[in-house]
Amino acid sequence: RLPKPFTVPLPIPDVVRPVAPGRYEVTQRVAAAEILPGLRTEVWGYGGTFPGPTFELRRGEPVTVAVRNELPVPTSTHLHGGVTPPGSDGYPTDLVVPAGSALRPAHPGEVHHPLVKEYRYPVGQRAATLWYHDHRMDFTAPQVWRGLAGMALVRDDEEDALPLPRGERELPLMICDRAFEEDGSFHYPQPFDTPPTGHGPPPEHSANGGHGRHGPPGGWGKLGGDYMEGVEGDVILVNGAPWPVAEVTATRYRLRLLNASNARRFLLRLTPGGRFTQIGSDSGLLAAPVAHDAIPISPGERYDVVVDFSAYPVGTAVTLVNALADGPAGNVMRFVVTRRAPDDSAVPAVLSRPPRRVRPVTTRRFDFRATDGAWTINGQRYRPGVPLARPRLGTAEIWRLTGDFRHPVHVHLAHFQVLARNGRSPAATDAGWKDTVDVRPYEVVDVLARFDGHRGTYMLHCHNLEHEDMAMMADFEVI
Ligand code: C2O
Ligand code: CU
Repeated sequence: RLPKPFTVPLPIPDVVRPVAPGRYEVTQRVAAAEILPGLRTEVWGYGGTFPGPTFELRRGEPVTVAVRNELPVPTSTHLHGGVTPPGSDGYPTDLVVPAGSALRPAHPGEVHHPLVKEYRYPVGQRAATLWYHDHRMDFTAPQVWRGLAGMALVRDDEEDALPLPRGERELPLMICDRAFEEDGSFHYPQPFDTPPTGHGPPPEHSANGGHGRHGPPGGWGKLGGDYMEGVEGDVILVNGAPWPVAEVTATRYRLRLLNASNARRFLLRLTPGGRFTQIGSDSGLLAAPVAHDAIPISPGERYDVVVDFSAYPVGTAVTLVNALADGPAGNVMRFVVTRRAPDDSAVPAVLSRPPRRVRPVTTRRFDFRATDGAWTINGQRYRPGVPLARPRLGTAEIWRLTGDFRHPVHVHLAHFQVLARNGRSPAATDAGWKDTVDVRPYEVVDVLARFDGHRGTYMLHCHNLEHEDMAMMADFEVI
């Protein structure tokens, strides 16, 4: 029942309208979606849609978002990449619980907000491609899989002054993989109401080097297959549609690429050939554009790119492919170049003046590793409220990230630059300020992180959502 690739039109999520200046209200609810043609998929969506609606935010214009939870489960909403005060950052035990919920707190310090929580976002940061998603302790992976994710675009005057493609020629592209049951419902290899009791890989994993082809962690025994690497599906969705197609004119387009998968990485390429001009990274515009033939994108990362479709003859089908997969997951979506059209856009040689690097005051190490059958950071399973580091507000630090496996490492609040991989210069695709970096097995990744904006408790974690749920998280406290 899977559709033929490149037959479903690319949907563009609605932009959410404020209910009053600076105030939004979004209800998380169960809804039916037609993701596979002719079949019904139950989604858990912000606003009842998957993806959730797009937030258009402006630097310097704070907003409040009242999130109302009409789902059967608790939730916590994190604005990924946001410079957000700690009380609104989507801490995993800061939960919005269903009305009348008799749930008892399951973790020390757990807070329950009945039905609604108001999240406050100062939006003091530069223009950037952000996203929001569920962050509930132990259940982020299954709840995001069911649909709790959407995009949030921050705009500012610096960016508006540039002649970049805009309007219909600016496409948010939330890319993720899913698996489905015969009846169209999402297939997730664990009951949605059971925490990942395995808490990590079997103990022999660390002993034999961790290449991932071992049995699933304990609690998922009936699944078979391999969940060491997290859960993957072979249906690729863009904005919630399977392998969609978009008609484009032979002009420049700005594509805001987000990998919202639980665990799947992509190496995006264009066939029959073509280049991406990267203009922005996770945390905003680059100083100057960088051209790439391929974009590696791990869960949580964003690449803001321009593709010039005037490089192709009219009628060309330009396919966005994933060079890391064969078969269905090797395709992502297609653009069909329909006609020539005027284009007054350009990619200027100077894009922005990003914040400068400041001198680090210290170096800390964070080691992401399987220890005694759990996914750990510095040998510790996640313990809410026990920070592994206390950086000072207004300073920068080098964080040395290492691991035994592939771990896309995400830091809340602090944006960082990749300084080195294994002591060498980072890749061209590591450019700019970021909040998520793919750490490969046995690699040493040095990042320079700036702690600006707010004091309080934040987290760093693996953004492989199954690893995250299996305790690969840590708190840090900005003091
Ligand atoms: Cu995108 Cu802590 O997550
Ligand atoms: Cu991981």
